[in-house]
Amino acid sequence: MRIVVCGVGTDVGKTWTCVALTLWLRNRGTRCIALKPVESGGDADSRALEQASGFHVEPPPYRFEQPIGPHLAAQRASVTIDLQTCVHWVERCSDGYEVTIVEMAGGLFSPLSNQHTNADLLKKLAADAWIAVAVDKLGVLHELKALLIAAEALALGRPVVVLNAPLIPDASTGTNGAQLESLGTCQVGASFSRGQPDEPPAKAEVGRLAAALGLA
Ligand SMILES: Nc1ncnc2c1ncn2[C@@H]1O[C@H](COP(=O)(O)OP(=O)(O)O)[C@@H](O)[C@H]1O
Ligand SMILES: [Mg+2]
Repeated sequence: MRIVVCGVGTDVGKTWTCVALTLWLRNRGTRCIALKPVESGGDADSRALEQASGFHVEPPPYRFEQPIGPHLAAQRASVTIDLQTCVHWVERCSDGYEVTIVEMAGGLFSPLSNQHTNADLLKKLAADAWIAVAVDKLGVLHELKALLIAAEALALGRPVVVLNAPLIPDASTGTNGAQLESLGTCQVGASFSRGQPDEPPAKAEVGRLAAALGLA
């Protein structure tokens, strides 16, 4: 099974979600690997995913040091991010695993080149399920509705929505999950509270996410 993790933006908790799900699945004895084919701003995410997965055989095809969008980082390095190269790398790395989790770089419509965004890569990866991670803060009702409308228009299928608590809560934090459901925007697959950086999320909530993905 292949699961793609996208965000409504960057710094929303995609890596956090990938790590939590990978550890939860591996703890249950599921052979699971988490991968990030495109990364800019160093390799912190790849290292976190590698640590959660056990090990990676092959380094990602596109990694850039500059902390800017991957399309621009690639341009500056005279590289073109090729979606098929990403798909082939994911396929090779997935060999022998029951579940592959793929983290996208940035938000669903973050560009990977002048032609393509993460949404195109999501389609090419032919995922069995995908996750949209959003921050439980003011503005998320709009952000998720916009993402879901766009995803439907592009025939990307419905994502499983994860709400992640922000470092600094606002007055809406804690209300948005119920609002998303009562407004009919979406069901929330899991809501992660804010833990310490090294503290894993509550197992029950990761289990709820796994169930929403059809993994539990
Ligand atoms: N629920 C959470 N509790 C505690 N820390 C979190 C949580 N979600 C994210 N973080 C931390 O916030 C930062 C950004 O999260 P990250 O998963 O790296 O975002 P993204 O992958 O979307 O850029 C990281 O330092 C991460 O450890
Ligand atoms: Mg990340």
